[in-house]
Amino acid sequence: MVDDLIKISKEAGAIIRGGFGKSNKVEFKTNETNLVTNIDKAAEKLITDFIKKEFPYHGILAEESGQVKSGAEYLWVIDPLDGTTNFAHGLPVFSVSIALQKNEVTISGVVYDVINDIAYAAEKGSGAFANDQKIKVSTNAILRRSVLASGFPYNVFENPDHLLERFAEMTKRARGVRRLGSAALDLAYVAKGVFDGYWEMELNPWDICAGMLLVEEAGGLVTDFDSNPIDMYTKRILATNKLIHGQMMEVLLKNF
Ligand code: IPD
Ligand code: CA
Ligand code: CA
Repeated sequence: MVDDLIKISKEAGAIIRGGFGKSNKVEFKTNETNLVTNIDKAAEKLITDFIKKEFPYHGILAEESGQVKSGAEYLWVIDPLDGTTNFAHGLPVFSVSIALQKNEVTISGVVYDVINDIAYAAEKGSGAFANDQKIKVSTNAILRRSVLASGFPYNVFENPDHLLERFAEMTKRARGVRRLGSAALDLAYVAKGVFDGYWEMELNPWDICAGMLLVEEAGGLVTDFDSNPIDMYTKRILATNKLIHGQMMEVLLKNF
């Protein structure tokens, strides 16, 4: 199955690359910071048309078109373009994220780094890969030596759940904190050992479903801020190399 995910994410990636840097139609979703472009929609249509044709009994949960066939044994969870703000502003950092669940368990996941042409892929129980190369989380055990990533939801100006305070506190404790603008890529970079850890609040299933599997299959740990196991609907995610998990939790829970 993972080969199908890789193939279709690359085809969607080709649409995105073709539209990058061109004048695209940009619309607002919930507010002026939350964008969608004709390219998000075209990439999603390509992916969902493929699934409807090849796997007509499978369910689909896709960012721009919502849920199709709820209750199906298999569910595809799709973010056709993760990093739309970057894409719309000409910043070459964005991805396609596709996961496949069977009976609510994620069995395959792909995050396709469109610009660098790298497909981060995992199947449950079989490890994680960047193209054909096996990837592992980092071995650093010290927060002060860690490079971390995070992101903000589109209602960041309301500062829900003290997200700015947490970001500030983590910035004081780590070697560096990055905000790339693609949650799926952030998770792929944790799986690859580029980032030692990543946290975010208020995400959606399509942002994290594939990336969570990548991190777990690369030897990392994904929980909420209290160390509880999470699913793709959980709003607080902490994904690390395992070794700095406790240290990050301590900061995320401090006085908030
Ligand atoms: C967004 C990106 C971003 C994260 C936002 C997401 P989108 O997804 O993943 O990194 O911080 O919360 O909504 O809208 O570009 O698909
Ligand atoms: Ca997204
Ligand atoms: Ca998106």
